[in-house]
Amino acid sequence: MINYVDIIVGLAWGDEGKGKISSALAKGYDMVCRWNGGPNAGHTVYINNKKYKTHLIPSGVFHGKPSIIGPNCVINVDKFHQEIQYLKENGFDTSLVKVHPFAHVITENHIKYDLEYLKPKLGTTGQGIAPCYADKANRVGIQVWQKLDKEYLWDMKLDGKILCEGAQSIWLDINWGDYPYVTSSETFPHNACSLGFSPKKIRDIIGVAKIYDTKSGVDPLFPESLWDDPVFDKIIEIGEERGTTTGRKRIVNWLNTKKLINAINLSGVNKIIINKCDVLEKVGVFKFQSYDGFIKVYHSIEAMQDGLAVEIFTHCPELDLKDIVFSGDQTKI
Ligand code: IMP
Repeated sequence: MINYVDIIVGLAWGDEGKGKISSALAKGYDMVCRWNGGPNAGHTVYINNKKYKTHLIPSGVFHGKPSIIGPNCVINVDKFHQEIQYLKENGFDTSLVKVHPFAHVITENHIKYDLEYLKPKLGTTGQGIAPCYADKANRVGIQVWQKLDKEYLWDMKLDGKILCEGAQSIWLDINWGDYPYVTSSETFPHNACSLGFSPKKIRDIIGVAKIYDTKSGVDPLFPESLWDDPVFDKIIEIGEERGTTTGRKRIVNWLNTKKLINAINLSGVNKIIINKCDVLEKVGVFKFQSYDGFIKVYHSIEAMQDGLAVEIFTHCPELDLKDIVFSGDQTKI
């Protein structure tokens, strides 16, 4: 029986540090599941001070918990095996990793099409995500049960306390993002129900944001002029703002509070973690874009956090002071 489900969702354009949060929380759950996307994601987690990078497999595997990849995910079978091998070599129990048989398979042709047509135009991760979801919708796709060894196919029931970790984030959602500069899956937390549980089982929705904005890939909301700002260069360097999947430099901007507040209200999050406060502290510049579109400037990270909290509470009246955590450590919340 499912006791309850908690869901982690990114509140911006990805790369907010969801992996850190799910890894820190995973111990308290019986299963950790992923409901969307594929190897386009990149999760960086620290276990006993060692850095690990994964793209597909949920972070439960780092903590001895069953780690489920749901039916709305897309799988590159070779990359899946490579990730399993990487985890095995680092001493993790990969018998806990299971993929739903109805997840879809990314083929060589999907990757070829993505690299040839989509990546140059839209700055995709080039992993074949869009063509794979397109074939799924056209009902000519290949499901995972046709290609993956039985030992990795999920044949259990969801049971106990479940943690769902979102890949990509609210503003990359195919319905609500800045189309076509989006990914091809649904990133909103209610889509976690595609794993096979009722929305009534959802307890907490934990939103993960970052104290500044970044975008990987092309997006008119992040114009090229942002490259010219030396402060943003510093943020890229100190914050290690390079794609885990692509290695590309991310484009940085000051946190857009209006977008953040819309993401909070649309997704229904009731807890918020704002990551990477330590990066701005090291850079020594404290700014965000207010709800009304002005740049607000502060003299310390504490003052900026207070200003940001006021801005959020003004527009998200259901949230309480205890519901926001500012985090400044890459290894813990
Ligand atoms: P695709 O998902 O590879 O098709 O890429 C579509 C857009 O989503 C591109 O702008 C990518 O940079 C972005 N994207 C996809 N996955 C991630 C992610 O995990 N983090 C950040 N951006 C991502």
